[in-house]
Amino acid sequence: MATTIGIICGSLREQSYNRIIAQSLIQMNKSVQFRWIEIKELPFFNEDLEVNGDPDAVLLFKSAVEEVDGIIIVSPEYNSGIPGVLKNALDWSSRPPKTSPMNKKPIGLIGATPGGFGTAFAQMQLRQVLETMQAQVFPFQKLFISQVHQKINLQEQVLSDEKTKKYLQSYVEEFLDWIQ
Ligand code: FNR
Repeated sequence: MATTIGIICGSLREQSYNRIIAQSLIQMNKSVQFRWIEIKELPFFNEDLEVNGDPDAVLLFKSAVEEVDGIIIVSPEYNSGIPGVLKNALDWSSRPPKTSPMNKKPIGLIGATPGGFGTAFAQMQLRQVLETMQAQVFPFQKLFISQVHQKINLQEQVLSDEKTKKYLQSYVEEFLDWIQ
């Protein structure tokens, strides 16, 4: 069976730079099988909701996480941290502890921002959170995309910066090597 990489975008914004980066990553790697894993339909995490079984949106989300061989998270940073919608999704995916779909799941981290630090703070937090839920975070490569607004063609909704394209491509290749 071919390796399937799930893609989670940490922004719900329609014109999200991170979504465009994720879409470009998929376009650029046509031989790789990707699967979008959406998080916008997830309710706020609440243990009371688990008592009678996970809501449908959560079941769908968790089975998508379970079914893919690895996940690349492409996310912005909010206030030097993880966007709430993404943290919410990760909390759902961490349940039940020890046997959750995130257990041992290989995870890659990419982030883009118009600012100068390329989501470095959010990625540090993501690493900590993911390791707590016993996911395996890609250890060698880091991909921080700063000044992303200058690297995107908004009209065509594609990444236009050649250097960033190369970084993305080698990130995906090395991530695949690692999980295989
Ligand atoms: C931001 N932004 C931001 N950027 C950054 O580099 N570090 C930060 O700490 C923050 N903090 C932050 C908080 C909040 C509430 C918002 C709405 C935004 C700017 C952010 O990087 C920018 O809006 C991106 O365009 C968001 O990513 P998407 O939606 O384009 O993918």
